[in-house]
Amino acid sequence: MIFAQLTDIHLKAGGRFAYKYSDTLSFLRAAVAHLNAFRPQLDFVVISGDLVDLGTRDEYELFRQEIAPLEMPFYVIPGNHDDRDVMRAAFSDHDYVSPDGPLQFSIEREGLRIIGLDTSVPGHPEGHFDVDRQVWLRGELEAHHDQPTLVFMHHPPVRTGILHMDAMMLMRADEDFWPVVSGQPQILQIACGHVHRAIEVFKNGIPVSICPASGHQVTLDLEPDGEATFMLEPPAVRIFRWRDGELVNHLSFTDNYGPRHPFFDKYGKPID
Ligand SMILES: [Fe+2]
Ligand SMILES: [Fe+2]
Repeated sequence: MIFAQLTDIHLKAGGRFAYKYSDTLSFLRAAVAHLNAFRPQLDFVVISGDLVDLGTRDEYELFRQEIAPLEMPFYVIPGNHDDRDVMRAAFSDHDYVSPDGPLQFSIEREGLRIIGLDTSVPGHPEGHFDVDRQVWLRGELEAHHDQPTLVFMHHPPVRTGILHMDAMMLMRADEDFWPVVSGQPQILQIACGHVHRAIEVFKNGIPVSICPASGHQVTLDLEPDGEATFMLEPPAVRIFRWRDGELVNHLSFTDNYGPRHPFFDKYGKPID
């Protein structure tokens, strides 16, 4: 089974650029074309939040229109730029979308449990994991403790060293989140968005990954007084391969980098 994570699209109504320089509509189109062209064909895509920039109905309408060409099913969870209720209405045809409460899912595909956690709180940039969500996740992990599990969530439950982003990570992660997932050996990985760049952290025995955005990337600035800036570094998605009990993930860059070049000629000799 092969599937992808697409995150932090920040689409704006009318295809307006985000933050003046990020052509998020063109970036989304490139990502959709990339996901469709990927071979072997992807089984599904998880979209891990910040689908749009301001959370308006117009933005979600455009998002639905632009994601429609995607040739495989997709699942969504909200990020801090989403408006949960407007998003809920926009995806009411998705059967896991509940009429109220957090917008999250728990599915099983080919023996892999895939959980999408809603860490958003309306009106807040930072993530939260309140008691209701703790109870829900605990219940899912208990009910499926024998299934290898991959957890998607928008806000990372770890620090990255990019301080303006750490200020809006999952709040009280050590108090509220880690006690729920620690000591649960079935969790193979926690896959996040929000920070708009590729980051890997290993915490409490669990690998945590952050996926680059489909458009603009947050600047790698580890200075204590680093400002909130972004750069147009290469956009990417993560491609997951689940096979024989092993979960592998790759970054796959969505820009066009030209054709594939062979290492060997038709006689099997290295090309020199
Ligand atoms: Fe974002
Ligand atoms: Fe975010």
